[in-house]
Amino acid sequence: MNVRHLIDLNDFTTADWHRIIRLAQEIMEKPQDYYGTCQGKLMATLFYEPSTRTQMSFQAAMHRLGGSVIGFDNPLNSSVSKGESLADTIRIVSGYTHLVTIRHPVEGAAQAASRYSSCPVINAGDGGHLHPTQTLTDLVTLTKYKGTLQNMTIGLCGDLKNGRTVHSILKALSRFPNKFILISTKELALPAYVKDILNASGCPFEEVYSLEEAIPRLDVLYMTRIQKERFSSEEEYERQKNVYVLDRKKLLRARADLAVLHPLPRVDEITPEVDSDPRALYFEQAKCGMYARMALITCLLQDDASRSFKEIPLSHPRNDIKCTNPKCITNHEPSLPHTFRENGGMFICEYCDERMILQ
Ligand code: NCD
Repeated sequence: MNVRHLIDLNDFTTADWHRIIRLAQEIMEKPQDYYGTCQGKLMATLFYEPSTRTQMSFQAAMHRLGGSVIGFDNPLNSSVSKGESLADTIRIVSGYTHLVTIRHPVEGAAQAASRYSSCPVINAGDGGHLHPTQTLTDLVTLTKYKGTLQNMTIGLCGDLKNGRTVHSILKALSRFPNKFILISTKELALPAYVKDILNASGCPFEEVYSLEEAIPRLDVLYMTRIQKERFSSEEEYERQKNVYVLDRKKLLRARADLAVLHPLPRVDEITPEVDSDPRALYFEQAKCGMYARMALITCLLQDDASRSFKEIPLSHPRNDIKCTNPKCITNHEPSLPHTFRENGGMFICEYCDERMILQ
């Protein structure tokens, strides 16, 4: 891999993605050939936020490779409850392990962790920002079931504002010639920074309200959960929660070769009657996630042992500028250096991607 950590999948080259996808396919075909390949290696899973699939598929992946896992899934049982900073927790845990996987409710937390870690860090979801290993899972699934990552019309439906899986998959699939149909209410529309990425990629995209109208045109439908935990009011969540429900009737209008994906967990946005439709691939997708993570762990550990990655130099800290995103890690851990990329008069927070124009 060209970089040491997986914080944003777009930090990797397309060749890196293909290497991981190919390896995931090989492991899927002959899992027994890979048992024991990470023997003696230790991975930490630090889950500051609830998780079933991501946490367990990482743990299963490491165990299947013959490695071991330590960690917590309730930070209140760790020294976090005594007020320990993220930076200190990572300094300590990375000294015990060969790989750290972190999920955190605050945006930019994995980026911050990578700055204090002595081993590779994997972002397993940072607030509503990014979820790169879900996207790897999605890329492995699409390669397996659609045979391609390009020339598709891809509909994304639901909470496009807060869904980190949506932001990550759009960033990744806009590297290839694809068309996107963004299906959401106005309140849950895609954030401007992801739209800017789509505009820069040259991939056409449309924002629409109706799933019924969009569905006949799609090769892939990526359904998402309304992210209740990211809403500031219960009333707003109640207004949004049942707007989009995929059921058998809507699927009647879809192509025979549509692929229905969902990062899961689902709440009410796909009715259980859809599960038996051959186009419903979300349970297979969850299984692909374990193989994608086995491949990722293998590649990161191999490259770390041979130090065949590029260190990204830290930008110059600008502690005179404060990120305006209240959900950014720099507003939760005051001792972190504030760093920004500059682009056309704009300052972009290197942790959470917030864009700011200074007056
Ligand atoms: C997703 C997440 O945590 O962002 N779940 C997952 O990791 N598969 C999607 C979600 O919670 O809605």
